[in-house]
Amino acid sequence: MKITYVAADGGPTEVDARNGDSVMQAALTHDVDGIVGECGGSMMCATCHCYVDEAWIDRVGHRSEDESELLECAASEVRPNSRLSCQIKMSAELDGLIVHLPEAQI
Ligand code: FES
Repeated sequence: MKITYVAADGGPTEVDARNGDSVMQAALTHDVDGIVGECGGSMMCATCHCYVDEAWIDRVGHRSEDESELLECAASEVRPNSRLSCQIKMSAELDGLIVHLPEAQI
């Protein structure tokens, strides 16, 4: 299943993700710049911040309260569609997902 990461400067990168992978894991596996994932997905770092494309936000869902709290430490502006990409698990429903990457993670 496909995920497209759109860099802050506009460049898209499309990768093949596995079912059950998080959007953070898939980025690291494919060396996508712009996702750091320092804590390995355990909700400790906020360096996996992404902006879910508006067309996808209903399917992906909004962030939890815990995510919102952690995003207060994010390096870039937090927007209504901000999510921690380690908390978005890929499934057939999300095939084709588009996420936008913030200017900085650290
Ligand atoms: Fe650390 Fe997502 S990888 S919070």
